[in-house]
Amino acid sequence: MSYDILIKKDKYKQFNLRGNPFVKTSAEAMTEEEILKTLVFTAEDESIATNIDIVLSGGGATLSLVGDYGTGKSVRAIAISDTFKRHNGVVFFCKVPSGDPARYAKALFEAVCPEALSLELPPEDKDFIFETYEYYKNLVMKNFELDSHKAGKDLANIFSVLSKNNYITCFIIDEFEELASGGNEKEIREAFTLTREYLSRVHGLNKHMTVICSSPKSWHMVKEVHPAVISRIMGEIEFEELDNDAAVELVSKRLKLYREGDAPDPLFPFTREIIERANEVSFHNPRYLLVILRSTLEAALKREGSQKVDLNDLDTGIRLARGKLSTSILKRMKEELTSRELEIFLKICEKFNGGPVFASQLAESLDIDQGNVSRYLNKLAKMGYLKQTRDGQKVLFEAKELYIVVFAKRKAIKSETQEKNED
Ligand SMILES: Nc1ncnc2c1ncn2[C@@H]1O[C@H](COP(=O)(O)OP(=O)(O)OP(=O)(O)O)[C@@H](O)[C@H]1O
Ligand SMILES: [Mg+2]
Repeated sequence: MSYDILIKKDKYKQFNLRGNPFVKTSAEAMTEEEILKTLVFTAEDESIATNIDIVLSGGGATLSLVGDYGTGKSVRAIAISDTFKRHNGVVFFCKVPSGDPARYAKALFEAVCPEALSLELPPEDKDFIFETYEYYKNLVMKNFELDSHKAGKDLANIFSVLSKNNYITCFIIDEFEELASGGNEKEIREAFTLTREYLSRVHGLNKHMTVICSSPKSWHMVKEVHPAVISRIMGEIEFEELDNDAAVELVSKRLKLYREGDAPDPLFPFTREIIERANEVSFHNPRYLLVILRSTLEAALKREGSQKVDLNDLDTGIRLARGKLSTSILKRMKEELTSRELEIFLKICEKFNGGPVFASQLAESLDIDQGNVSRYLNKLAKMGYLKQTRDGQKVLFEAKELYIVVFAKRKAIKSETQEKNED
């Protein structure tokens, strides 16, 4: 007996697909080929390309790619890496580990030295890289005290050596936000100092580019610690919301990758309307969009006689994705909100079914002063967690759609007929 019977891969055939195109929701889960085939360029990519061009023409650049969870930082890192390799560049890639600065230093040198040692270099340059590597490789094991200034300088020196030997290099530091998680304040500062020291020394280095991918919160922390240096030397690229055209292109490219046979149109079984609606509910975040579309497609397949994905499937899809979404949304909220703000927000979702609710009702339920509650509510609205509406003189607060479905567990997507009936 084979498990094929239970896997039912054939079910996707009804939509001319060979599988669910939205299963992979992070760069790490995808092959380089899949990433390059599905990447959609947005305004931010223009700036990335300009900087790559500067480096390939002999200049130097340092870039930070700043964006929330799942906004496409790592897929850009892969596309940058691919471009450099196509132009005979040498790419070094470091995924930042959480923990103390010595671990960070070790990871940086491990990402750079072995690869650099495999290049053709004069013996004295090889010796220098070899010795530097020996030292930092053993740092954690031997419990050496890290000199973060020196570490930054040593790292930059390796790239100077490579540039002097006419190599075009690109150093990608991904998941920079890991530095801010775990360590104490002193350790975080040390790691930032190493980074700053390195950046200020590679600044202007010919034929070299450094790319740092970070969450906005961690990036702002670095800037607070070293404001002048960082803003002077870095080109900052902040990922904006995915607009509807980009969302449609993303879906179309994903579907194409999984297409089998002739489909009636490139978006089949989706429609532009469904994708726009899903994008809106996902807060225009590519990863949330993929997670929601994955289960929306499954919902449509389960529905008997379904010809296309409809708004009810989208609603079911969001509810099916609830578990996965709530974990990641809560993680983000814990980073952004104080525990009081989070408590109030979850109260609106869980006790008041997502709202609408008046400040006075909440104040009573939480036993907090109404003035304070109003301040919290206004802040939550400003940060995009709540919507405000008016009822005469009074203001009502309601959680945004995605939060309603995930935390309040009620239906948020209305079908067209429902909306028309309400009008
Ligand atoms: N511009 C885009 N074009 C195509 N796919 C995208 C785009 N942006 C994001 N994605 C898709 O969204 C998912 C998340 O992207 P990625 O892993 O690069 O995000 P990230 O910002 O690195 O997230 P994290 O904060 O978890 O590291 C991936 O599956 C990727 O294919
Ligand atoms: Mg990433």
